[in-house]
Amino acid sequence: MQALVETINKLKKEKNAVILAHCYQPVEIDLVADYVGDSLYLSQVAAKTDADMIIFAGVYFMAQTAKLLSPDKKVILPQIDAGCHMADMINYKQLLDFKAKNPGIPTVCYVNSTAEVKSECDLCCTSSNAVDVVKSLNAERVLFLPDMYLGKWVEKQLGNVEVITYPGFCPTHLQIRPADIEAARKEHPEALVLVHPECHMSVSEMADYVGSTTGIMNFAKNSDNKSFIIVTEQGVVDRLKRDMPEKEFVPVKDNIVCPSMKMTTLDDILKVLQNESNEIFVDGNVAQKAVKCIDRMLEVSK
Ligand code: 13P
Ligand code: SF4
Repeated sequence: MQALVETINKLKKEKNAVILAHCYQPVEIDLVADYVGDSLYLSQVAAKTDADMIIFAGVYFMAQTAKLLSPDKKVILPQIDAGCHMADMINYKQLLDFKAKNPGIPTVCYVNSTAEVKSECDLCCTSSNAVDVVKSLNAERVLFLPDMYLGKWVEKQLGNVEVITYPGFCPTHLQIRPADIEAARKEHPEALVLVHPECHMSVSEMADYVGSTTGIMNFAKNSDNKSFIIVTEQGVVDRLKRDMPEKEFVPVKDNIVCPSMKMTTLDDILKVLQNESNEIFVDGNVAQKAVKCIDRMLEVSK
C-alpha cells in the first residue's frame, strides 16, 4: 500500500491536485487526502483552494457542490456511481410539487441534494449549520428537504419556527433504533451517547450530544469523559479510534455503513489522477442559480 500512496502523492503534486475526503470514506483514503472532514468543512475548502484539480473522495452531491463553488477547476469523483440515497429521494419535479403545495414559504435544502434541486431553493445547509441557516431566514415557517429528521431536529432546537419537512431520510442512519442505544448504554453505562441528526428523532432524543460529523469529533476531543457510544457512520468511529487511542469509542451497532461512501479505493484515486476521468459538469443555467443558495449558506457559516 505504501508504494501506491507514494505514487498518488507524487502524481498529485505534479498535477497540482488536491484530494478532499469525507469522514465516511474508508479510513485508508486519509493516507493521500489533503483535507478530511464533514460536508461543510469540505465545501469551504473547495471554495478556497487554488489547486487546478479537486479529487473528491465522497459521494456525487459533494463533488457537484465542489464544482459549483469552483467552476473553473477540474472536479473529479473517483467512483462515479457513488450516489447518496437521501439526495436521490427528491428530484426537480418533486421539489416543485412540494413548493406548490406550500406556497410563499422560504425553502432550505440540505447539501445532500442535486444541483437542480438547489437551483430552486433559497438557502442550503449542512448538518453543522442547519440551525443557524434556518434561523437566519427570520421566518415563521420554513420548507426543509430532503431530510425530515434533520428538519424536525432543527425545529426542536429553535422552538419558534415551524419546519415543514419533505419525507426524505438516510437509510444508513435510520437503521439505528432506540433499542440499540439502550443496549449499548447497558454495556457501557459510563459512555456518553453522540448522535448525528440524520437519525430518527426517537434516537436523537436519547443523546447526550447531537451534532454533525465534525461536531461529534470535536465533542469527543474536548470532553473529559473517556468513553463514547458513536451513533453515526462507521468511518467516524474508525477515525476517532485512530486519533484518540487513549479514549474508548464504541459503534452503537455493527455495520452502520454508507455503501456509497465505501466504494472508493486508493486504486480508484490513482486511476482518476492518471486518466483525469470521472469529471463532474453542471449545466450553466442550473449552476448559476444553485451556487447562490450555497454561497448564502457559506455567508451564514463564516
Ligand atoms: P456531515 O454534514 O456531517 O458531513 O454529513 C453528511 C452526510 O452525508 C451524513 O450522512
Ligand atoms: Fe447519503 Fe446517508 Fe450516505 Fe450520508 S450516509 S451520503 S445521507 S446515504
